[in-house]
Amino acid sequence: MKIDIVNVSKLFGDKAAVDNVNLSFDKAGFIGIIGRSGAGKSTLLRMLNRLSDATRGEILVDGTDVLALRGAAKRAWQNQCAMVFQQFNLVPRMDVASNVLHGLLGRRSTLTTLFNLWSAEDITTAFGILERLGVAEQAAKRAEALSGGQQQRVAIARALMQDPKVILADEPIASLDPMNAQIVMDTLKRIQTEDGRMVIANLHTLDTARRYCDRVIGMRDGRVVFDGTPAQLTAGVARDIYGADASFSEAATSTALETLERDTDYAVTMLGD
Ligand SMILES: Nc1ncnc2c1ncn2[C@@H]1O[C@H](COP(=O)(O)OP(=O)(O)OP(=O)(O)O)[C@@H](O)[C@H]1O
Ligand SMILES: [Mg+2]
Repeated sequence: MKIDIVNVSKLFGDKAAVDNVNLSFDKAGFIGIIGRSGAGKSTLLRMLNRLSDATRGEILVDGTDVLALRGAAKRAWQNQCAMVFQQFNLVPRMDVASNVLHGLLGRRSTLTTLFNLWSAEDITTAFGILERLGVAEQAAKRAEALSGGQQQRVAIARALMQDPKVILADEPIASLDPMNAQIVMDTLKRIQTEDGRMVIANLHTLDTARRYCDRVIGMRDGRVVFDGTPAQLTAGVARDIYGADASFSEAATSTALETLERDTDYAVTMLGD
């Protein structure tokens, strides 16, 4: 699958949230989008998935402009690019297995969904995915009873139920503690490498982008200001992406993944004393 974002802009009033972006994705890699708050990361992902319309431009998927799709064709595209959100967006009081089966919503008739008439095959698939992501034991529990990390894995399972070519993740670990953040990122990475799906993830922090991504895109004020490998993402480049203000520091854009390691080192040191 080849995705070409061509001259895409999104205006809110006279402010460009996304300002003439051009990007191509033609490999099923792990792509990270970074940038400070308000840079336009979410707006870009939402346009890709058609949750939000573009003001200008085209998004060509194997040559077809998905921004122009309507009705069933639009839903078919949305099935191909499943979204994962920071707040999981599960149905809290519904059991985990049903939440996952709801990933089929775009593929099954309303009637089927209404009466919960999932086929045996669908149910087997759902349990297989839950097992793969290490949350099968939670299948009968209400989603709200799970930890954040478990809920995000259920949300990823729901996305996988669509068998998407692309997974779009908007800050998938921003609400998680360091340990769960790592489990969720490892899960997304596995899905990318083992299944050959493309993952495009908005990430709040540099260290996560460096650790998991094959390609990092830096956005600033709605524009793409960096597109390269983690190795090319030097401190100077990062300063440019996040804005060259004096308060910039790696620590300020660091998730807790590194902190976790530092804490562990610290604990070991303490024990050694
Ligand atoms: N529905 C909206 N109405 C008006 N302005 C909006 C709307 N959605 C986003 N914006 C504006 O567009 C710009 C880009 O927002 P966006 O949410 O895409 O940024 P972001 O990079 O995802 O930020 P964050 O890291 O905080 O999630 C911001 O200036 C924001 O205030
Ligand atoms: Mg955002």
